[in-house]
Amino acid sequence: MQPLPRLAALAAFCLAALPAAFSAAAADGPRERLSFNADWRFHKGEPAAGKADDGAFNDAAWRKLDLPHDWGIEGPFKQEYAGETGKLPWWGVGWYRKHFTLPADDAGRRIYLDIDGAMSNATVFVNGREVGGWPYGYASWRVDLTPHVKAGGENVVAIRLDNPPDSSRWYPGGGIYRNVWLVKTAPVHVAHNGTYVTTPQVASDSALVNVQVTVDNDGADTDVQVATEIYALDKAGRRTGAAVARQDATAAAKVAAGKQVQLTQALAVPNPRLWSTEAPQRYVAVTTVTSKGRAVDQYETPFGIRTIAFDAQRGFLLNGKRVPIQGVCQHHDLGALGTAINVRALERQLEILREMGVNAIRTSHNPPAPELLDLADRMGILIVDEAFDMWGEQKTPNDYHRAFPAWHEKDLRTMVRRDRNHPSVIAWSIGNEIVEQGKPEGWKVAAHLAEIVRGEDRTRPTTAAYNHVSSGYNGFQNAIDLFGYNYKPHEYGKFHASAPHIPMYGSETASTVSSRGEYFFPVSDEKSKGLANFHVSSYDLSAPPWATAPDVEFKGQDDNPFVAGEFVWTGFDYLGEPTPYNADTTNVLNFTDPVQRAKMEKDLADLKKIAIPSRSSYFGIVDLAGFKKDRFWLYQARWRPELPMAHLLPHWNWPERVGQVTPVHLYTSGDEAELFLNGQSLGRKKRGPRDYRLRWDDVKYQPGTLKAVTYRNGKPWAEDTVRTAGAPAKLALSADRDKLQADGADLAFVSVTIADKDGVPVPRTHNRIRFSLTGPGEIVVTDNGDPNSFESFQSKEKNAFNGKVLAIVRTRAGAGGKLVLTATADGMQAAKVVLESTAAQGR
Ligand code: GAL
Repeated sequence: MQPLPRLAALAAFCLAALPAAFSAAAADGPRERLSFNADWRFHKGEPAAGKADDGAFNDAAWRKLDLPHDWGIEGPFKQEYAGETGKLPWWGVGWYRKHFTLPADDAGRRIYLDIDGAMSNATVFVNGREVGGWPYGYASWRVDLTPHVKAGGENVVAIRLDNPPDSSRWYPGGGIYRNVWLVKTAPVHVAHNGTYVTTPQVASDSALVNVQVTVDNDGADTDVQVATEIYALDKAGRRTGAAVARQDATAAAKVAAGKQVQLTQALAVPNPRLWSTEAPQRYVAVTTVTSKGRAVDQYETPFGIRTIAFDAQRGFLLNGKRVPIQGVCQHHDLGALGTAINVRALERQLEILREMGVNAIRTSHNPPAPELLDLADRMGILIVDEAFDMWGEQKTPNDYHRAFPAWHEKDLRTMVRRDRNHPSVIAWSIGNEIVEQGKPEGWKVAAHLAEIVRGEDRTRPTTAAYNHVSSGYNGFQNAIDLFGYNYKPHEYGKFHASAPHIPMYGSETASTVSSRGEYFFPVSDEKSKGLANFHVSSYDLSAPPWATAPDVEFKGQDDNPFVAGEFVWTGFDYLGEPTPYNADTTNVLNFTDPVQRAKMEKDLADLKKIAIPSRSSYFGIVDLAGFKKDRFWLYQARWRPELPMAHLLPHWNWPERVGQVTPVHLYTSGDEAELFLNGQSLGRKKRGPRDYRLRWDDVKYQPGTLKAVTYRNGKPWAEDTVRTAGAPAKLALSADRDKLQADGADLAFVSVTIADKDGVPVPRTHNRIRFSLTGPGEIVVTDNGDPNSFESFQSKEKNAFNGKVLAIVRTRAGAGGKLVLTATADGMQAAKVVLESTAAQGR
């Protein structure tokens, strides 16, 4: 190359570094993506008079609210509502309307409404005209408003949602429960989710990054070019330093009016910092689209550079290194906050799970909010992104199976296109426990769906969560790239022997059930035992018929090291599906064996005869309020073996059991432990090769102090002590964070623990706790994690459940200051926590 004269070189550099200037014409101005969440009007049901889709309809009397919104979570809980879906009213029709003005300058621009999720069967009207919609409540979709809106005038968008009854197996929520955006672009622009960044070659000195860009031309015939710059991002998502790679504009492609073009650029990133679970380095590809020499669009695609592989012998490999999948399945609700997406609430869930050692989430059984994937990218959490809980065969009479024939392809493509740039996503799941497994040639549907996914992305395997043993042998196993068994630790070896070339993992495991802080005696290892008073004992031995204690799955994994890991059902408790106090018949489908099935059907019929108060699940390792159940530490001991830790159970407040056998279990990352009761040794025990807990099963209860001293390789490792508490005397408050952002979305999760006069937590107390708040914010909800609490989440007071309650405080937008949350209870001193809310740049 001829050396350029100095000035010309500088000019060339500037041109490349600062993308070509945007046109002075407003229509070609830079893309905008504006939050469209504020100032909606909402009405539950059809309006009594008039047509809500009509532009002139008067909605002034409707409730004013901001999105995201879940109309079910305010309740009330009702006994007669199904426990399966949380005993909350999420079904029916709901309308949302928003009036908005577009500046005159928007004339000639493309105007899109992007809906991250609306539950469900949405129809969108603009200025009285039906303009689009989407049935699947978990999809993210776009409506083109351009032909229907007035620039320089007032517009009204009306959205009708309709949740049929019997359409979900868990609490789905209702409403526009995810974020909504107004996107404005020039006529020539990057298409919806129109970039696809892959890293086909990754080495320590260089990575090849392919950026494929789909450009829509909604204007007249023109030419289109794209240019790319890549920057490293810091943890907060800000660019660091200069571009690490740059590709100037490609040769112009001619694009006719109304057509689309796909342009690809290849860039080399020198010395790439790889995305991993320990160091989740991200980059951003900045795409500049030019047309007729003018920049018309700029679009950012965050991505990561890493390699993934599922190996049939070695499991999951990230950047060539085996990473055992330590995963949990998660439903989408955020406990007392319902399904309305809140980034901090999600982040807190992930933080708690990561403390346990979680490195992976399966988004059961649907595409998640996009914010979950952003968080996972940032935090280094692996994701199995799941599309469906059913295909053409129903699980409940009005579920998505009705839309499946017409919509499955769109829904699958939409999911993959939205999510394929996230380094966290490691596999695409086409379905969970699909009923078609039981049909001859049902595998053909699996093969069809997997091919659709591969058409959008071949850099990740397709997978499915199979619960029929036979799916390992009857064609289903060959339809996907990565085989997932639900609840089949005893089948891993057999499957592997028959298909040694197919990588596999436990797509859903354990389903152990328990209520935080409840223990029932005598303790039995039979999984059907441990039930009383609509609670389940917390010895972590109880599970429904298809499920197991955690230890059984651990053994299955350890005996079969080719298994890539597991996704436990579930990380957090969720609203709905309160098995075993659930008259839901769906899980009968887990049984192909006629004898087992008949027994299950009879049990369920018996259950249906009694009034069941349960509203939320018992499956969580963490309860609905975010309080850890005992097995949190069982998983932590396994998943964070280098963390010195020990956890004793049960609590030690059993005045009615003096002298009676009260087994003591210990979860520890140590390999040996000695147990002391009031200073007396009850014996030192060593963990055997497949022991995941240490047990002293014949301890006779005496009040006092129970202490475990653990060892690893003969050296002291960690200790835990449990003391008998006296009467409730004090409230101990602790906030997850005390520095908040005054953005109207940030939350503090304040936990209250009831303690005796010496500060020892009181385990079996249910005192009523009342909250009040001063300062610029509000108490949004309270919860205690009790699956049988019917008290409104919005109530500012609540009974403690086994000594604990949670209050969630939200800041006020634009108003910083000191927030003081006070908790009071009869006969106890009030306690306070002080939070600082500051107006700062967005989260
Ligand atoms: C599975 C199912 C999950 C949940 C779980 C409870 O069979 O895939 O959605 O129902 O059982 O154990």
